[in-house]
Amino acid sequence: MGKVITVASGKGGVGKTTITANVGIALAQKNFKVLLIDADIAMANLSLLLGMQASPITLHDVLVGESTVEDAIYEGPAGLNFIPSGLSLESYKRVDTERLEAVVKEVAPKYDFVLLDAPPGIEKNVMSSLAAADEILLITMPTSPSIADVLKTKIVGQRLGSNPIAVVVNFSMGEKGEIANEDIMKMLELPVYGTIPYDPEVRRSFMQQKVQPIILRKPSSPASIAMRKVAARVAGLKAHELTAPGKKQGFLSKLLAIFKIGKRKSK
Ligand SMILES: Nc1ncnc2c1ncn2[C@@H]1O[C@H](COP(=O)(O)OP(=O)(O)O)[C@@H](O)[C@H]1O
Ligand SMILES: [Mg+2]
Repeated sequence: MGKVITVASGKGGVGKTTITANVGIALAQKNFKVLLIDADIAMANLSLLLGMQASPITLHDVLVGESTVEDAIYEGPAGLNFIPSGLSLESYKRVDTERLEAVVKEVAPKYDFVLLDAPPGIEKNVMSSLAAADEILLITMPTSPSIADVLKTKIVGQRLGSNPIAVVVNFSMGEKGEIANEDIMKMLELPVYGTIPYDPEVRRSFMQQKVQPIILRKPSSPASIAMRKVAARVAGLKAHELTAPGKKQGFLSKLLAIFKIGKRKSK
């Protein structure tokens, strides 16, 4: 059964969608089977960020019962799968997110990781995203108001029976007034899975003619390196696997891996 991780925050604009897309790609580059779901059904923009075209069938159609979930799954970068949300206001009004959890449960067995890009706030649609999660990854800025918001989301998630596992600190500029990770950990009683620096390339990736998440466009930029570290923590990978840009396994490394397994078994 794939692990369902909801990426949530207090307010909008802290980097949930950016982190969902880039961490998702980083996991896919490590050969995990990944599904991203745009659960921000009112302000869908995960597909845009992934550089994908508008999709004919979306999560909206699935949630109103007009399409099967399989029909709403598309192929994205690095071989990941994703389910977009609809852009039409009309279909949004008809959507009931109460079915989200059932939809997620239906597809999760086929993947290693299902990442849900949650809407901001603690309204009903957010609660559905939190309730559908096995684990919640909270995104905050290193400022007190942002941390206070995320604490509320953490409490709501716990009340809904999900497990907030960790925090990612985004938009770090290394400025004096920023709250230190140590204090963030104490305030939220959660580990920090990574600090993503403010990196102008993140926004620039969105402004190119061909939109491409930063991890693909600038794999060696500071934010991309930080995203891969977060992905490694999410996947429970070891330290030496943290920073290298992901590669599909070549023939030789596959052979080597088989050889190593063989050796371990024969001991
Ligand atoms: N580390 C970062 N450095 C620079 N810009 C960032 C960073 N993370 C996110 N952004 C930008 O901030 C804006 C909000 O990010 P987004 O992922 O849409 O937030 P949310 O989904 O939480 O509303 C976007 O324009 C995005 O490109
Ligand atoms: Mg978003």
